[in-house]
Amino acid sequence: MLALEGISFSYPGLPVLEDVSLSVRRGEVVSILGPSGCGKSTLLSVAAGLDAPPRGRVFLDGRDCTGKPGGVSYMQQEDLLLPWRRVGGNIALPLTLGGMSRAQAHQAVEELLPAFGLEGFARAYPFQLSGGMRQRAALMRSYMASSRLMLLDEPFARLDALTRASLHQWFLDLVHRLGTSLLIVTHDIDEALYLSDRIIVLSARPARVVREMDVPDREGRSLHGLTKPDFTRRKQQLLDALGQD
Ligand SMILES: Nc1ncnc2c1ncn2[C@@H]1O[C@H](COP(=O)(O)OP(=O)(O)OP(=O)(O)O)[C@@H](O)[C@H]1O
Ligand SMILES: [Mg+2]
Repeated sequence: MLALEGISFSYPGLPVLEDVSLSVRRGEVVSILGPSGCGKSTLLSVAAGLDAPPRGRVFLDGRDCTGKPGGVSYMQQEDLLLPWRRVGGNIALPLTLGGMSRAQAHQAVEELLPAFGLEGFARAYPFQLSGGMRQRAALMRSYMASSRLMLLDEPFARLDALTRASLHQWFLDLVHRLGTSLLIVTHDIDEALYLSDRIIVLSARPARVVREMDVPDREGRSLHGLTKPDFTRRKQQLLDALGQD
């Protein structure tokens, strides 16, 4: 569905990505792990078409979309809800910006609110929600922008451990039900192992792919499974890959 081929990217005087290739198949959840500042957010913004790399190509369903935004939804690292808009209005934004009438957009939002655990909160303001609810609303807004492929930059990073754990479980169920493909950036190895079908480890800047790991059996996964021996083994392998340079 998404293929990045041989992406290199620099900010003036600062090489950030070096020959990075990766792909996300239909319905697959792929996580990107890498040290802070290595270029993960830059990679997502290239994948979303917001930055055009001097070398390398981005393909969406086989079409060259390098430097062309709009084909996927992209939730940035500090993606906040607009405080002056109601929750429903925030979530409907990608639809109304795309030209849908307000009435139609609100109808579409209303239908999906229960799946995101926000039933009855369309008319609330963001400050009236808990942190976990705000995060679900931000995820739902991204889902409205594209239900096929979502690029998420540290979507659970600002939550406390308990809220994060319950959101993880909810999120896996939802993704399974909706069949969305995901590329997720995270710092958290446990989170990557719990959520993903495949994990890609990047080196320090300039980022190269140092390891790709398949994680079988996403559907049968539970938080309980996190203590199993193969989980521990994979975690060690990921730590090794991250410590490689
Ligand atoms: N707009 C920009 N202009 C110049 N340099 C930038 C810009 N955005 C990011 N950088 C630099 O590019 C490098 C990679 O940044 P990026 O945000 O992609 O890292 P990251 O892996 O997402 O880090 P973190 O894990 O801390 O979010 C950093 O050294 C950063 O300073
Ligand atoms: Mg980042």
